[in-house]
Amino acid sequence: MRAKDIRAKAGAEPITMLTAYDAPTAAVVDEAGIDVILVGDSVGNTQLGHDSTLPVTVDEMASHTAAVARGADDALVVADMPFLSFGVSTEASIENAGRMLKEADADAVKLECGPHTVELTEQLTDLGIPTMAHLGLTPQRENETGLFRQGTDAEGAREILDLARAHEDAGAFSLVLEHVPANLASEVTDELAIPTIGIGAGPECDGQVLVVDEVLGLSEGTAPFSKAWGDVRGEMQRAVEGYREDVESGEFPGEDHSHYEDELEDVY
Ligand code: KIV
Ligand code: NA
Repeated sequence: MRAKDIRAKAGAEPITMLTAYDAPTAAVVDEAGIDVILVGDSVGNTQLGHDSTLPVTVDEMASHTAAVARGADDALVVADMPFLSFGVSTEASIENAGRMLKEADADAVKLECGPHTVELTEQLTDLGIPTMAHLGLTPQRENETGLFRQGTDAEGAREILDLARAHEDAGAFSLVLEHVPANLASEVTDELAIPTIGIGAGPECDGQVLVVDEVLGLSEGTAPFSKAWGDVRGEMQRAVEGYREDVESGEFPGEDHSHYEDELEDVY
């Protein structure tokens, strides 16, 4: 899957996207036929034990992205650019984005967008780094905006629509819309030729994305706009408790899981 294949799906077929942060999960997501795997900077929360995405580094993103790329065959692998890895200087932004393709084997990058990322989106695209835009709730700005629904009044909605158009014109191949009213997401989807991929943005986007931990039922609870289709956390707990009980009771390891060497009988 290439960025242009995702772009071509706009208005035709629903696009499916999920996050993944490691090779085995990426393999499951890929084998299930998901179109796009996002190595989200949500890795900070889901895997690294932080309570925000802000501490995530370029090195961490490169490492997780490389693992996902090794686990996935068909899906488009998109690396999220972490806080302050872009937008500070053009050179550093391009170098950091380039690392995701050169070093980590990503197919594209994603940027949390604002007026400051229009020119960068054009530069990255011109250099051959397919770029996914992200508007609405952009958690890297949580100290500025809080983690609330965005685009809820006329001014906020207009700003998102204008920035969406500007990033399409700058060459973005798709746009994530996070936590915005469904009627705003619908309007943006109508206005743009590139596909919109929603999270907490209603059913009228061209595609949907969720954090894989929530879909699996691995996280503690889910966001109100998300859903668990499994109970992986419960399954992990059952397995680990089973192991502990069997070791404590002496049940494990039994004959089946042990090896005795006859030769050694004479030695002792
Ligand atoms: O980091 C992430 O998981 C994301 C998605 C929620 C779009 O940016
Ligand atoms: Na993110």
